[in-house]
Amino acid sequence: MLRDVVEGYGKLTKRDLRVLRLIEVGHRRYEYVPEELVVDWARYRKEEVVQSIKRLHYYGFLRRNVAPYRGWKITTHGYDVLALHTLVQRRKILSLSPTPVGVGKESVVYAGVTPSGFKVALKFHRGGVSVFRYERPFLRKVSKYRHLAEVFETRLSALAEYFALSKVFEAGGWVPEPIAYNRHVVLMSYVEGVELYRSEEDMRKIADDVVHTISTALRIGIIHGDLSPYNIIVGDRGYVIDWPQWVPTRHPKAEYYLRRDLATISAFFKKWGVEIPVEELLLAVGKSGDSGKQFLSEIYKQDFL
Ligand SMILES: Nc1ncnc2c1ncn2[C@@H]1O[C@H](COP(=O)(O)OP(=O)(O)OP(=O)(O)O)[C@@H](O)[C@H]1O
Ligand SMILES: [Mg+2]
Repeated sequence: MLRDVVEGYGKLTKRDLRVLRLIEVGHRRYEYVPEELVVDWARYRKEEVVQSIKRLHYYGFLRRNVAPYRGWKITTHGYDVLALHTLVQRRKILSLSPTPVGVGKESVVYAGVTPSGFKVALKFHRGGVSVFRYERPFLRKVSKYRHLAEVFETRLSALAEYFALSKVFEAGGWVPEPIAYNRHVVLMSYVEGVELYRSEEDMRKIADDVVHTISTALRIGIIHGDLSPYNIIVGDRGYVIDWPQWVPTRHPKAEYYLRRDLATISAFFKKWGVEIPVEELLLAVGKSGDSGKQFLSEIYKQDFL
């Protein structure tokens, strides 16, 4: 499917992309942006705008509505194109793999290359999983733009993941290096390796890396929230991936999530005869920082449009 997005993106002209961006701005006021208005806003002749809209529709980047007026709405793939275009323009990415390297419930992940030849993973968020979607600053934004609730949720998920990756990476945990974030997409370094459940590496060594990352994250106030052998990639080290659902240690249900993470991971390593210091990690919560508050103020700053 994203194959079509990459292919389609390659065929779009500058004008098509501008028209798509205009419709995105139009979504501030309309669920279906009136075609008349798009024509008014664009600095092109009417026929040119209509032709661009047709092409965008043909590639599956727009959905049409005919009554009570002719209007257009951007599809998930349309947003993919806008995010991809922004990252290409900012020279964060040069090309993408034709097929995904990972398809999950909440995302699609592609491998790619930056202009300097660095291998990256590009994660397109498909669902809203952040605990911050129940927070007031976020709910206030959504209440103003109800028709964009889903779009906002995927954007919040991507922002939440980018925030956690940045903080944990800076603090020295074993996570992919975050490179950029735009709309509902996160760009990070590509981890060469296999998921832990398929790995045959020295389990003691991997467990040490995972415990190091969990305790580093806890120290700055972050609990992963979906830790499992599927979300650990074993390459030169054991890397913890997939952070959009992270939970702040000051969250009322923090201990529940941390216990669940630790139970899953210690059950896995136990099968290999490796123990995880569960009690010690649980104690760390009391002494942790508060990334939750900081993240909320980041949400305040984002306009999500
Ligand atoms: N940085 C990365 N480097 C290499 N491969 C990655 C990277 N990030 C993700 N992947 C691949 O993509 C797959 C899916 O990524 P991830 O676990 O982040 O999302 P997800 O599983 O879709 O999320 P969810 O668990 O909510 O469904 C991973 O299992 C992995 O194979
Ligand atoms: Mg996953």
